Amino acid sequence: MPSLNHNFQKLKREIIFPIIDQKLLDLRQKNPTSKILNLGVGDIAKPIDTTIAKAISDATLEMTDPISIHGYGPSTGYSFLKDAIVDTEYQKYGITSEEIFISHGIISDITHIEELFSKENRLAIPNPAYPVYLDSNVMAGKTASLNKNDLFDGITTLQCTQENNFLPVPPKAPSDIIYLCSPHNPTGAAFSKSELQTWVDYARKNKAIILYDGAYEGFIRDSNIPKSIYEIDGSKDVAIEFRSFSKTAGFTGLRCSYTVIPQNINIDGIPVNSLWKTRQSTKFNGVAYPIQKGALASLSQVGQEASKRQIDDYLLQGKRIKEALLKKGFSVSGGDNSPYLWMKTPGSTTSWAFFDYLLEKFHIVTIPGVGFGKCGEGYIRLSSFITKETADEFLEKITAMEISCFHFAQES
Ligand SMILES: Cc1ncc(COP(=O)(O)O)c(C=O)c1O
Repeated sequence: MPSLNHNFQKLKREIIFPIIDQKLLDLRQKNPTSKILNLGVGDIAKPIDTTIAKAISDATLEMTDPISIHGYGPSTGYSFLKDAIVDTEYQKYGITSEEIFISHGIISDITHIEELFSKENRLAIPNPAYPVYLDSNVMAGKTASLNKNDLFDGITTLQCTQENNFLPVPPKAPSDIIYLCSPHNPTGAAFSKSELQTWVDYARKNKAIILYDGAYEGFIRDSNIPKSIYEIDGSKDVAIEFRSFSKTAGFTGLRCSYTVIPQNINIDGIPVNSLWKTRQSTKFNGVAYPIQKGALASLSQVGQEASKRQIDDYLLQGKRIKEALLKKGFSVSGGDNSPYLWMKTPGSTTSWAFFDYLLEKFHIVTIPGVGFGKCGEGYIRLSSFITKETADEFLEKITAMEISCFHFAQES
């Protein structure tokens, strides 16, 4: 008789998206004609550029010809894409194409990379954070059970609170595997070069590995904020970087990303790069050829300009929303180099209570901060992955919201 991997049952976190979907469904049933403004989603709101679509379409047509058809591709990605990534992004840091692994979204790589590391590793994980860092380790049996404080014993929780500008700081205790994300989801804060240097120094001192999630690097506009961890001295010995075309070029539905594993990184003399190569060639058959051609097109000059225009517009909508909320007296951070705004709920209102209030009274969807971890309680996340029209309507609602919101704050 088969037996289960009982580690899955250790996942006690509230999976917020089905709950939000149900609340939305209930609202729609009660108010079938009302317009609902969704500022919750972390998904793109604009179409992909035609340069990308054309490249995908041309590559698909190549598949109709017996001469140019492509079957299984290399499991680590086609060299045309890896070389272009090196040329446009990594040559300046001395990274080569052998250190790049193409995949179909970093959610896969970031959740599977734990396979390379033993159970004995001391993990350090930010809170609040993209939930899969923790969940993938829980599912793999790399953690103890949830304790009465709603945290997992044995894991160093890197709190991202107002005191540390919503970004993790190195703990006193040593760690072996550290998850970092900048610009950070959900708080929208991003490391300066000196803050990230502190992390790299900590990792070098402790012989740790940093797993650096750069999903939102395309939103960085401030020159003091590193776009890649390899801008930081000494990082090539300790940092693995994850990058995605999802939010930079609109690939959330197309799926293409890459992971950078420098050859220098090794454990007991064994290069992590070669272990990941073995993992990928065993468990992964590569990303579709037309999609990789589309990703290549996004790196062309025209493609990069189109991505920049789109992201500039997302940032602009985020800026408008942030300014309007600040003007009304709310406490809001993030959004300057990130698609996410992190907003304090009024008074001691919980994330869910404020979420419900905005949804029921104003038909505005946000994400309760507590869905990203215990330290997100008392906050909501707003996304600037919206159109100008949605932002305009949100701003109108904010004006109407003024009195009742402060009333709400005093009540709580
Ligand atoms: C911080 C972070 N990392 C990774 C991902 C997943 O990206 P991908 O679409 O490449 O799987 C997301 C998606 O929302 C994210 O927020």
